[in-house]
Amino acid sequence: MLTNRQLFLLHMGQTSPSPMMVEIVRAEGIYMYGPDGKEYIDLISGVSVSNTGHCHPRVVEAVKNQVDAYMHLMVYGEMIQSPQVKYAERLTSILPAALNNCYFVNSGSEAVEGALKLAKRFTGKSRIISFKNSYHGSTHGALSIQGSELYKNSFRPLLPETFQIGFNDEESLDAIDHRTACVIIEPVQGEAGVICPENSFLIKIRDRCTATGAMLIFDEIQTGFGRTGYMFALERYGVVPDILLLAKALGGGMPLGAFISSKEIMSALISNPVLGHITTFGGHPVCCAAGLASLNVIIDEHLVETCNSKSVLFKNELTHPLISEVRGDGLLLAVQLIESDYVKYVIGHAPEYGLILDYFLFCNNAFRIAPPLIISEQEISKACIRMKKLLDTAMSNAKN
Ligand SMILES: Cc1ncc(COP(=O)(O)O)c(C=O)c1O
Repeated sequence: MLTNRQLFLLHMGQTSPSPMMVEIVRAEGIYMYGPDGKEYIDLISGVSVSNTGHCHPRVVEAVKNQVDAYMHLMVYGEMIQSPQVKYAERLTSILPAALNNCYFVNSGSEAVEGALKLAKRFTGKSRIISFKNSYHGSTHGALSIQGSELYKNSFRPLLPETFQIGFNDEESLDAIDHRTACVIIEPVQGEAGVICPENSFLIKIRDRCTATGAMLIFDEIQTGFGRTGYMFALERYGVVPDILLLAKALGGGMPLGAFISSKEIMSALISNPVLGHITTFGGHPVCCAAGLASLNVIIDEHLVETCNSKSVLFKNELTHPLISEVRGDGLLLAVQLIESDYVKYVIGHAPEYGLILDYFLFCNNAFRIAPPLIISEQEISKACIRMKKLLDTAMSNAKN
């Protein structure tokens, strides 16, 4: 009989020649466990998904209750499904008043696609502006606005009339003009290696969009749900977008995405043509039940409030000759090393040290730390001790 490892390589489509290849049989809180019982500290949350940790009892209970009641009933937008309406109500109650209408989809990329279509439909314009080193997903539309040529070139032709300007580059904001349907931006760039906006950059973009009639889209797919020390990064920067994109932690560990706007803007999708944007599984009731339970955990367990002190703890503990900088807000951190060779070594050998770490797509001299927000101070110290041992070994071995 073949092992799961062999089956993985034989029958599963691969995304790279060097997958992590760690087999997990169980996960709980910040921990994952291998078939041999080996414990791994999850320092990336399945890439900013498991904000309330793995298998939080309240999330598991919500999933079980919903599975017992019903699973898929009908395509999105037709029937009144209690988990969807309750989650939409709860989410919009914690967002700025203008963001009062949720369109649920299945993933981040789909939220991006829906938002781009909504902006084109509402403004009647077609130009889309995004940012260098931005990541918005892998579907054709999302890829078209990605800020890295490396990933785009092999898949052309892509969407026309898409332009990438510099993040934190005020002068390039002139590119936003009366022909622009929308500007899409991650308020904190994730895959670029955690780059925060400077000098009121987001406010300047907001002003320019308002002046030209372009819609401002915030992609908070990675920054949402407490990750940066605020429930949403938009709170920190005092800017309300026309459309907000959520996914990843939105589903509490289940696949769910959403684009959120005002009722007036969202109504553009109702007609001309009718059914101009539809989805079979969008807002799956089990995913919405899980997402709502997870959001309630974030609020009830005060996970946003404790995020910044945990961030400081990581920054204080992570001192090492190989580390040149630990940057970022909340629990979305980039640990920059003095050379990219060390990053490769550290991420590749992390599982041996009981750690799960990961790369950034567009920043090869840093690795990511984005643990579940439930991580305790003791667990942060334990993780940092393991990381420093790993860095010590990297220092002596990476170049051999
Ligand atoms: C900022 C951002 N937008 C969009 C996406 C795409 O989301 P998904 O992988 O769910 O399609 C990601 C995924 O990493 C992301 O980080």
